[in-house]
Amino acid sequence: MCGIVGYLGDKEAAPILLSGLRRLEYRGYDSAGIAVANGAPSTVLRRRGKLAELERLVATETPHGNVGIGHTRWATHGRPSDENAHPHKVGGVSLVHNGIIENHVDLRRRLQGEARVFKSETDTEIVAHLVDRALRDGAPTLIEAVRMALSEVRGAYAIVVMSDDHPEQIVAAKNASPLVLGIGESETFLASDVPALLEHTRDVLFLEEGEIVEITRGGVRVERMDGRVVERSPRRIEWDAAQAEKGGYPHFMLKEIHEQPRAIADTLRGRLDVEGGDASIGTFDADAGRLRRVVLLACGTSYHAGLVGKFLIEGLAGIPAEVDLASEFRYRDPVIGPDDLVVGISQSGETADTLAAIKEARSRGARALAISNVVDSAIARASDGALYTYAGPEIGVASTKCFTAQLAALALLALHLGRRTGKLSLEAGRAFASELQQIPAKMERVLAVSGDLSDVAQRSASVSDVLFLGRGVNYPIALEGALKLKEISYIHAEGYAAGEMKHGPIALIDDGMPVVVIAPMGPSYEKVLSNLAEVKARDGRIIAVATEGDKHLRSVSDVVLSVPDAPPLLQPLLTVVPLQILAYSVAVAKGNDVDQPRNLAKSVTVE
Ligand code: M6R
Repeated sequence: MCGIVGYLGDKEAAPILLSGLRRLEYRGYDSAGIAVANGAPSTVLRRRGKLAELERLVATETPHGNVGIGHTRWATHGRPSDENAHPHKVGGVSLVHNGIIENHVDLRRRLQGEARVFKSETDTEIVAHLVDRALRDGAPTLIEAVRMALSEVRGAYAIVVMSDDHPEQIVAAKNASPLVLGIGESETFLASDVPALLEHTRDVLFLEEGEIVEITRGGVRVERMDGRVVERSPRRIEWDAAQAEKGGYPHFMLKEIHEQPRAIADTLRGRLDVEGGDASIGTFDADAGRLRRVVLLACGTSYHAGLVGKFLIEGLAGIPAEVDLASEFRYRDPVIGPDDLVVGISQSGETADTLAAIKEARSRGARALAISNVVDSAIARASDGALYTYAGPEIGVASTKCFTAQLAALALLALHLGRRTGKLSLEAGRAFASELQQIPAKMERVLAVSGDLSDVAQRSASVSDVLFLGRGVNYPIALEGALKLKEISYIHAEGYAAGEMKHGPIALIDDGMPVVVIAPMGPSYEKVLSNLAEVKARDGRIIAVATEGDKHLRSVSDVVLSVPDAPPLLQPLLTVVPLQILAYSVAVAKGNDVDQPRNLAKSVTVE
């Protein structure tokens, strides 16, 4: 996720900005830039690549000034490049932005119609144009110009703006992306995250949704978008630097589990059309009418997303879908051709096996769409198009938010295909889109009720095996729950299709064997209950993932993890969350290194 810093005070801004950006490096980025002003027009310096590149440029150019803003970019709209790096300068306006502007296509078209010329592919530059236009149209102050610009913008943003016409001030606004002010002695700092502030001050003021702030030498003035002044006192942060990087959570994995509602909302933003019962997949033409088959290729957790994708695509679009482990597909003699669409799924976008499998499929004439969390990644470049997930960088090695963001992207793809094959009517498309839009809020509920699983984790920490059972679209979630537990707790765990239990694994069950049963209300519910009875009859200890209010499951299970009701095809987005928390809690109970489990790497670029 991008990082923002800002400074207004008596010191040289550039070193403060660079050191703030260094503190945000852990978040991941692909380019960086700063704008510094000393009353004269601001100097903007930007570089693709690591901060060291920008530091070299700053050392050569030596920009001076006591006011400045800086940014580390994690590409979403437009590939990583010098031109796409922030700050964007339009006229006298320099601007940095975190988030996604939903209506960027419309706004760009309109601004181009006004003969405005764009120098980057980003959605951010549009906002800089809007602020510049508002100033030219006579906005009396910078805060007013920003307010006018934002009245045209839909989406999630934290923006920070400087203007050559209004030196000695910074204006910032927040909607759904974090922004925090650091209050010092006659100086003010600004950042997307607390770690960038801690070396200067511990007195911070978190901006809330829909707030806009004007920072001048006189201090800070926070307002609502409608101009009402907000009175809020700074709060003192006691976190150390390591805690601050994790947003106060003990581990990145837990932070990322809690970021899932936002990751899903960002992935759906601007793509899901509830009214039209449809979804956009960008410029890629899936040519749905011609498709014979969809082949989903991936590894590990992304493979489990692919397994859910099969249900979504077959269920909504009626197109046959197959899922293959990329490492197997590439060494087979796969039957695949021009009427097949390959969907390569990869969080990192650089997994060697997935990359090779996509190339193999394309060499046989298939078209490929990448689902990746990294813009312009190797897998995206090797494909005909990309449908990016906007989960932000994932630091914990065990994938969580990227997995659910992949499910959201697959739901968009399936809805898009379904409307084009005609399997989904307008009404059915609307119903699905509306349910999909409710998922982030439902996830928040799961996170709120799952809370502390340390008790159940303590009891599970000493076992040597755990079985995960699920049916239908929740079978891949049984696999994913087992993989999460294996990866970070080092306990042997197996995911099984519940109906298969009687064909072998039932022999394992005794009173020492916890069995996690994923049994939300839906078409497989009764069947899973029968499987659960088989476990119970053999004294197995049952941990059930159940729909809220399911009294029966509560009466027959040792532990119940509740999720809100949802249509079966969307349940995996909810049922996986308590399993992530369970795996996390067991790993913590065992004292394991949760974020960097032994023997595992975040991206696997070797065969
Ligand atoms: O970056 P990718 O999504 O292509 O990675 C695939 C797997 O290596 C990855 O999902 C792995 O299984 C994770 N450690 C899962 O938590």
